[in-house]
This record gives sequence, C-alpha cells and structure tokens, in this order.
Amino acid sequence: MSVYPGAYPATRMRRFRQRSWARELRAETRLHPCDLVLPVFVKDGIETPEPIETLPGVTRQSIDQVVETAREAHGLGIQAVAVFPVTDPKLKTEDGQEALKPDNLVCRTIQALKSQVPDIGVIADVALDPYTSHGHDGLIRDGDVANDETVETLAEQAVVLANTGADIVAPSDMMDGRVGAIRSALEAAGHPDTIILSYAAKYASALYGPFRDAVGSSTALSGASKRSYQMDPRNRDEALAEVSLDLGEGADAVMVKPALAYLDVIAAIRERFHVPVFAYQVSGEYTMVKAAGAAGVVDADDVMVEHLLAIKRAGAGTILTYAALDVAKALKGSS
Ligand code: PBG
Repeated sequence: MSVYPGAYPATRMRRFRQRSWARELRAETRLHPCDLVLPVFVKDGIETPEPIETLPGVTRQSIDQVVETAREAHGLGIQAVAVFPVTDPKLKTEDGQEALKPDNLVCRTIQALKSQVPDIGVIADVALDPYTSHGHDGLIRDGDVANDETVETLAEQAVVLANTGADIVAPSDMMDGRVGAIRSALEAAGHPDTIILSYAAKYASALYGPFRDAVGSSTALSGASKRSYQMDPRNRDEALAEVSLDLGEGADAVMVKPALAYLDVIAAIRERFHVPVFAYQVSGEYTMVKAAGAAGVVDADDVMVEHLLAIKRAGAGTILTYAALDVAKALKGSS
C-alpha cells in the first residue's frame, strides 16, 4: 500500500529532494550531540594521552585529561561519558577484588568528574573484566564464570560506584539476575535514584577486539570466548526475553551491543518496550570505518554519520560512540 494514493505524476517523490531546506523539512531522523555518549579510557601514571593503536584517534588518558575531555564534550552538547579504567596488571587478580575498592581508578575518576564537571552524567560499567587476571567478567569456578557468586560481587561493585557518585551504573556482564540484585543493593545502600542501564542484549561479538586492547583485557583472555554468558548472534527472541527480564528486575534503560549488526534487535525492542533504548557502536565497528577511510575506500566521517543515523532510525535514542566528539563538532559546525 502506498502512503500517497495518487500515482505519478500526481505523486513525485523527488519534490522534497530538490533543495536543502526541503530535505531538512522532510528529514525523519536527526542526529544531535544530546544523542551521543562518549566512552573514555582512564589510566594511572601517564603524563600525556596514550594513543590506542587499534582505535584510531582515541587515547588512554590520566584522570585530569579525562576531566578536560568531559568538559570539552559537555561544551559540545554531549550529556554523558562512560568511564572505562585501564587497570595496572599488578592490581588484577583471579577474583577481581580491586573492583570493590572505593579508591580504585574508576572511583577516583568519577569523583574528579563529579566535582569538576558536575553537569555531565557519568556512566560506569558493572563487570569484573577490567580487574580479573583472566579477563572474564565474573568469578571463575570449575572452568566457567559462576553466575550467582558473580552477581553478589557485582551488586557490591554497583554500590561502590554509586557511593562515589556514578549517576548511571551499567551492568555489562550478562549474568542472570544481576539487575535485580543491583537494584536491591542500591535501595538498601540509600541510592534509590541511581539509574540502571542494563546491557540487556550484549552479544558474544568479534567486534570488541580494539576495546580489549585499550583496557588490556585481551592478552588476559587467553583465547577463551565469552559465549557462556554473552548472547548468541543468531538470536533475536532471546534479546527480547533479556530485555523483559531486566526491566522486570528494575532496569531503567536497556542497551543493545554491538549496534550496526543488530539493528533488527534495536527495532524489535523499540517496538515492544516503550523504554529508553541505548546502542553501543563498539570499538570494532568504529575502527572498521576508520580503517576503510584510511585505506581511501570511503569518507570515514560521512560513513560514521550514516551508521549513527541508521542506529537512530532503527530506534535507539542514545548511542555510545568513540566518534562522539568528532560528530558533535561536525554537527556544531553545520548548524
Ligand atoms: C566489558 C565490556 C566490553 C565492552 C564494553 N564493556 C568488552 C567485552 O565484553 O569483552 C566492549 C566495548 C567495545 O568494544 O567498544 N564488560
């Protein structure tokens, strides 16, 4: 069925494509800096930002530099940063207990951000992979990540993060029952307003490589995959079940990750659940675009925006992207 009852020439779809102003009036999807969240990597003991080879244009930064980056981001209209710690390998252990220390790197970063750039939202991952010597998101028992024991630790980690000022805690571990445990723990600890952004549909993807390089969890990961807890890329119904469970347990918003290869999942969630849907344009997605640009195959900036628009058009309201600063700058320049 056509939306326009009249056939050509009564209907000419090109009328609205003739001029820039008309295309702007007709535009169904727009990208705005408010739609973007900037992930940042923080590291102790560095003087200048450290380039990440597999993540072109992205650096590991000291706490002070992260604060400056967040200030710049906020000036460009970006409303939140997601903080990822690059943990000193000496502090990593089998059980990742560094995650629970109130003065660990991510906590010190959150405090600095909240005191120096109070108007930007701070998102902190809840998962043990930055802290475990094996690189997995939870505690290993009998050769696999043990769900229930991990959940207890994650609930404690979420409280530590909320105590230091994290506005949004984002469980990215994919354990069963963790959202409910985190919600109860936050209530009990006097944090009724902390937002839980659940990585509800996080797939066991081959696109996380550059991120694992950035935080130094890949060398630790010893070839083992995360398929016993992250989702199977073949499944969509399972993602809807994850979302429904997480919302029932007290999640305020849900995330799909990666983004571009899972637009159908974003659209299906958006259609069924009327809650905020976030999408994570992950490291591998970002680097593929940059690499194709560097190879002279495409214009990386144009393709990046095209991908972000596709993610938004599919139904994501907010997108985590390493390109947030560049895109926000370009949007500012064009308006
Ligand atoms: C860890 C975590 C990962 C990412 C965000 N949080 C990696 C993983 O699950 O191994 C990946 C993000 C990216 O690739 O940009 N819980």
